[in-house]
Amino acid sequence: MNYTPSTQRYDSMKYNHTGSRGLKLPAISLGLWHNFGNTTSLDSQREMIHTAFDLGITHFDLANNYGPPPGSAEENFGTILHRDLRTHRDELIISSKAGYHMWPGPYGEWGSRKYLLSSLDQSLKRLKLDYVDIFYSHRLDPNTPLEETMGALDTAVRQGKALYAGISSYSGKKTIEASAVMKSLGTPILIHQPSYSMLNRWIEKDLLSVLEQEGIGCIPFSPLAQGMLSDKYLQGVPSGSRAATPGTAFKQDFLTPENLAHIQDLNTIAQERGQSLAQMALAWVLRDPRITTALIGASSPAQIKENVAALNNLSFTKEELKRIDVHALDAGINLWAQSSQAG
Ligand SMILES: NC(=O)c1ccc[n+]([C@@H]2O[C@H](COP(=O)([O-])OP(=O)(O)OC[C@H]3O[C@@H](n4cnc5c(N)ncnc54)[C@H](OP(=O)(O)O)[C@@H]3O)[C@@H](O)[C@H]2O)c1
Repeated sequence: MNYTPSTQRYDSMKYNHTGSRGLKLPAISLGLWHNFGNTTSLDSQREMIHTAFDLGITHFDLANNYGPPPGSAEENFGTILHRDLRTHRDELIISSKAGYHMWPGPYGEWGSRKYLLSSLDQSLKRLKLDYVDIFYSHRLDPNTPLEETMGALDTAVRQGKALYAGISSYSGKKTIEASAVMKSLGTPILIHQPSYSMLNRWIEKDLLSVLEQEGIGCIPFSPLAQGMLSDKYLQGVPSGSRAATPGTAFKQDFLTPENLAHIQDLNTIAQERGQSLAQMALAWVLRDPRITTALIGASSPAQIKENVAALNNLSFTKEELKRIDVHALDAGINLWAQSSQAG
């Protein structure tokens, strides 16, 4: 099967500036944490990448550890890229990250200069690329000075191995400190990648205002709470879903009667808006102008199409927003945020 990208791919996608920077990202981006490792056929992965690109999704998010096994998502994406999108490299924003465990010994995880720069070299080999567009510190390392971790990101950009630097899951306070270091080095942080959804609203406390003040973009991950913000779990756990797949970060403990009642109510609001719950969840994340792009995952081309169609109705009434606010899961946030961290 040969692939020719749709000539209409830029007709309907919306592109937003990343914070106060020049780079624009599509309102919906695709992450390859799940369903792009060696347990999913390459044909199925190709179909999802083709569908996304044909709909104007120009941003694909990876990390060193995505698989399974770790590293295989980068290898598979590299294969697809070279086979189908080689002549479109300049139309793509490809990101990778380092922070979680990748190899044995003291240099295989966290935030040292040694780990970050070695990991980036490994990622580039797997992706068969000279550079990634964005390279992230995947998590804060409390035992490494920020100057060292940020210095490694700056070096990656100066070496031409990354065009921009990002951070993921850093608190508001640590983001201010990291931003100051990066500004002093002359490589301001482009973007922050935190978890965020209608159920998990920790970034509203202070991180979003910090990002605005620093001119940093925001790319929320798990905007569908790993699929919980869809109608798929309302009648039980379907086979093949993430919750039914052993070894994923989706714990079935999240599907309590109380949480399912929240999802049922949200589903009713979505139906009244003429959207699916997944579409409303994405439109809701994008309602805030500080959000650059919603970073989704998908297990089929149909999900990608449905999710991009969320852009057909992005406005909310005050009344709808109030009704949605009731469903923020204060008690569940920590559990939820921790469970999705290794992504
Ligand atoms: N920086 C970090 O620490 C971190 C952590 C986690 C994730 N991420 C990034 O964020 C990306 C997205 O995370 P995520 O996969 O958790 O995002 P998500 O969009 O909240 O969840 C994606 C899952 O929801 C289900 N889904 C998607 N669209 C659907 C629809 N229209 N209807 C019903 N179900 C639907 C699918 O699950 P099924 O398989 O059940 O169909 C899909 O795999 C990752 O790929 C990764 O790039 C980063």
